[in-house]
Amino acid sequence: MLIAGNWKMHLTLDAATALAAAVADAVAPLHAHEAGVAVALCAPFPFLHAVAQAVAGSGVTVGAQDVSAHAEGAYTGETSAAMLVSVGCTYAIVGHSERRQYHGESDTLVADKAAAALANGLTPIVCVGETLDERRAEQVEAVVGRQLDAAARRLGDDLARAVIAYEPVWAIGTGETATPEQAQAVHAFLRYRLAEALGTGAADAVPLLYGGSMKPINAAELLAQPDVDGGLVGGASLDASSFAALIAAAVATSA
Ligand code: 13P
Repeated sequence: MLIAGNWKMHLTLDAATALAAAVADAVAPLHAHEAGVAVALCAPFPFLHAVAQAVAGSGVTVGAQDVSAHAEGAYTGETSAAMLVSVGCTYAIVGHSERRQYHGESDTLVADKAAAALANGLTPIVCVGETLDERRAEQVEAVVGRQLDAAARRLGDDLARAVIAYEPVWAIGTGETATPEQAQAVHAFLRYRLAEALGTGAADAVPLLYGGSMKPINAAELLAQPDVDGGLVGGASLDASSFAALIAAAVATSA
């Protein structure tokens, strides 16, 4: 299981390092690692190095919220996977719906970013998810299937080394969560599509995270679903005690 916090565009350096240290302290007594629960903090780029230092030795890992599709070169404003590894990152989120929506990221670009991450020792957390209109039009499987297939085509067998996050756009930051049944249904579909690409054994080993208003109060039910292997947590990750409560729910579920 993996519980990853996505801090989005919040905090300043002092607040970010304080939060990272508070998370490391709060998580320590939960023995998450021994319970098979990995914890990651996906911080804004300027804070990554300090956050990695703040959690060093705690077992908490660090991720970026995006990564360049390019390895190196004249790409002003971009941040490469190798740079992220050099400051202590393990993960990079790619294709978050906010980047697809506000920065015009296509399925192809997202797949290229995932490939660049993997080529440089970073695990991509590839986000997929439908909008409310797409759900109403019964396009959920068509949309998430298209998004996943783009990554599968680009990555081939390396898809087995990625993490996939299902984040229904209508549940992000809205307080509206997918029901455990809705989440499980989409996760089961994603697992089936992964098995088509990778075979059943490898597909079973790919962590499928749920994201969208996951809170301590609803985490246990979501994480208890057979194909939900963790969470990508926005708002609730900005408070150390609520993030720790969510991790405690994951530890209890995986026990
Ligand atoms: P919220 O948990 O704030 O809904 O955000 C979810 C998300 O987008 C995580 O990447």
